[in-house]
Amino acid sequence: MREKSIFQKIDAFTDSHEGKRMGLYPYFRQIISATDTEISLKTGQRVLMLGSNSYMGLTNHPEVKEAAIKAIEKYGTGCAGSRFLNGTLDIHEELEAELAGWVGKDSALLYSTGFQVNQGVMATLMERHGHIILDSRNHASIVDGARLSMANIARYPHNDMDSLHKVLSRIPENKSKLLVADGVFSMEGDIVKLPELVELAEEFNVVVMIDDAHALGVLGKDGSGTASHFGLTDRVDLIMGTFSKSLASVGGFIASDGQTIEFLKHHSRALIFSASMPPASVASVLAALRVIKREPERIDGLWKNTGMMRTGLKSLGFDTGLSETPIIPVHVGQIMTLLAMCKKLEEENIFVNPVIPPAVPPNDCLLRISLMATHTESQIDFALQKMEKVGRELLVIS
Ligand SMILES: Cc1ncc(COP(=O)(O)O)c(C=O)c1O
Repeated sequence: MREKSIFQKIDAFTDSHEGKRMGLYPYFRQIISATDTEISLKTGQRVLMLGSNSYMGLTNHPEVKEAAIKAIEKYGTGCAGSRFLNGTLDIHEELEAELAGWVGKDSALLYSTGFQVNQGVMATLMERHGHIILDSRNHASIVDGARLSMANIARYPHNDMDSLHKVLSRIPENKSKLLVADGVFSMEGDIVKLPELVELAEEFNVVVMIDDAHALGVLGKDGSGTASHFGLTDRVDLIMGTFSKSLASVGGFIASDGQTIEFLKHHSRALIFSASMPPASVASVLAALRVIKREPERIDGLWKNTGMMRTGLKSLGFDTGLSETPIIPVHVGQIMTLLAMCKKLEEENIFVNPVIPPAVPPNDCLLRISLMATHTESQIDFALQKMEKVGRELLVIS
């Protein structure tokens, strides 16, 4: 052990070494091909990808790649500055206008990652004595955004609107209040109860922000997200999205009324003190968005695949929890069973992601399967066969 106390926890951390020694370590697997329905691993295996958030299957689309290449040719590889100063390109503003129109808001603002959107928006809008109300299963970036704001944080049990009512009724009336929830919850794959949530928000005068990371391309008109899905766009104040899932790149945005966006442009530290999205990413998102709008059959394909997979898993006896979307959790229970299942599936040429505490409660570890619009029926059949084989071997199903 090294002397300094700061190193004690570092030196005491052995979990990853143990996992590797046991041959059960499922993280940082090296991929040597494009993200698609099938990928190549550094091990030499060609595997079926069931762990990607590329719901629209556009990360390897010729038109999207071509747009990125052309953008590099025209603008170079980076902006070398923040949006605020020297890092605003014409295509940044073009993308903002298209995104705002897509999700049905006046204006939008790009950030360099979705994580930064949550930090940059929540911390900027809230003040120290305000109250942020969070669903217990919200994404980590929302939790960290809330912490950074230094506001009081209240949580309600996942999607439980009676509890939300109780939480809201305890907050003094004259305080500023922001309620943030995922549109589609990233681990369980269920949808926020938005109609009840906005009713409560209006009753208690709360600003509502929805994180649509997993809803864009999946729910609503032309894949424009949760608020559109419920026809409640006017009753959601802020819509957040990321480009790291359906939109085939990296980066994120917040959409709202013009004055809120104007305020964020001039106060949000995560925006002002960080370099802007690189040209290739901006152009990829613009191209991906246009493909999504032009080819609604992609969304239909995604839902068809989702239905096939979920029905298949359920009929095999797997517990797919609350899933209502292309995110399908398979509840496995103990961590060792889950790691063994991931390993065996990889040996059967299937790539899936394990989800362990703190992302889920202890003893409720799950395998997170996610579908793409571009998966084929035969790929889903193959996956179901292998899930059955491995599930039986490990007694996850009988
Ligand atoms: C619900 C949710 N919000 C925000 C983010 C952060 O997005 P990004 O990957 O663009 O940083 C993620 C990504 O995992 C997410 O799942």
